[in-house]
Amino acid sequence: MTHPAQLPAALAGRLDAHARRWLVTGAAGFIGSHLVEALLLSGQHVVGLDNFATGHRRNLDEVRAAVGADAACRFTFVEGDIRDLATCARVCAGVDVVLHQAALGSVPRSLADPLASHDANVNGFLNMLLAARDAQVRRFVYAASSSTYGDSPSLPKVEDVIGRPLSPYAVTKYVNELYADVFARCYGMSVIGLRYFNVFGARQDPDGAYAAVIPRWARALLLGETVHINGDGETSRDFCYVDNAVQANLLAGLTEEAAACNTVYNVAAYRQTSLNQLFASMRAGLVTRFPDIAAAQPQYRDFRAGDVRHSLADITRARTLLGYAPTHDVDQGLAEAMNWYVARFAPSRTASVPT
Ligand SMILES: NC(=O)c1ccc[n+]([C@@H]2O[C@H](COP(=O)([O-])OP(=O)(O)OC[C@H]3O[C@@H](n4cnc5c(N)ncnc54)[C@H](O)[C@@H]3O)[C@@H](O)[C@H]2O)c1
Repeated sequence: MTHPAQLPAALAGRLDAHARRWLVTGAAGFIGSHLVEALLLSGQHVVGLDNFATGHRRNLDEVRAAVGADAACRFTFVEGDIRDLATCARVCAGVDVVLHQAALGSVPRSLADPLASHDANVNGFLNMLLAARDAQVRRFVYAASSSTYGDSPSLPKVEDVIGRPLSPYAVTKYVNELYADVFARCYGMSVIGLRYFNVFGARQDPDGAYAAVIPRWARALLLGETVHINGDGETSRDFCYVDNAVQANLLAGLTEEAAACNTVYNVAAYRQTSLNQLFASMRAGLVTRFPDIAAAQPQYRDFRAGDVRHSLADITRARTLLGYAPTHDVDQGLAEAMNWYVARFAPSRTASVPT
């Protein structure tokens, strides 16, 4: 079996041992589409669910093209909504492992429309938990968030020390953890939450008001638009390349260790990068190919409401209990991700992109 290059050998071996049936919700989104791709490349059977609220059919087309026709035959896509319990029940039938990614992301989106975020992220989450419980899935892995650390000033972030949420989005992600914990204790479900820290990579949506920082800046740099930095640029994040997040999901889906279940894990690279450093790295990465980008300067504007000031994850728990070992730091991840943004926004210049 051919595996995606980023999977550690031990993990690839575990995938080879058993072909399983996986459900990926949010399959047409950024992280979900990478999960589908990695699973199909590893010989697994995958059901994908998405309502295209923020995901795209073109992401699924890219996955099908990347894995080839034979592997794509093991993929079933269902267009549907996690806010509908019957849909959740239908897609959970016969599934071994759920990787639940579907949600409305973005702190500002949740501040603008808390009801919509609650509906998808809390009501939809509860539907998925109920459906997974009733279908007796073996493992329920879900996308939690570093936003749960809220106003806690401690760094690096360790899983058991959280503060007060700073946005409706953060509340929804914390409620997910509470429900998951209760379902594990009351119904004997096996659940694992993955607190992602600023995941980035190919297919992360660069468009729209709620785009994340790396795709937004990649687009602006490549199209010659202004890059805006919210605040003084010293706000920091632990940027996590998507391959690391994929690895964490597969490890969480496959672990047989009881001690590794019914808890949450930080998923990050354990490196703190300020927005100023990020801008400098992205510009430097593109300048070798597009010398005109050397002149790009960011424009500073007000801090954004609801944003955490600093973020850095302690990843000891995931390393110890899951065997998580990030394969990409932020620079290695940026180098790969930028090729995708170049192909998207500067296709006529891709010929000069080194592989
Ligand atoms: N990207 C990050 O840095 C990050 C950080 C922390 C947590 N997360 C979480 O990871 C998960 C995936 O995020 P992403 O960055 O891939 O975002 P994304 O927006 O690209 O993917 C989310 C997907 O869920 C789908 N979706 C939304 N509401 C739905 C509904 N009601 N029914 C069915 N599908 C629905 C969307 O259409 C989209 O395809 C989310 O739960 C998000 O909250 C992401």
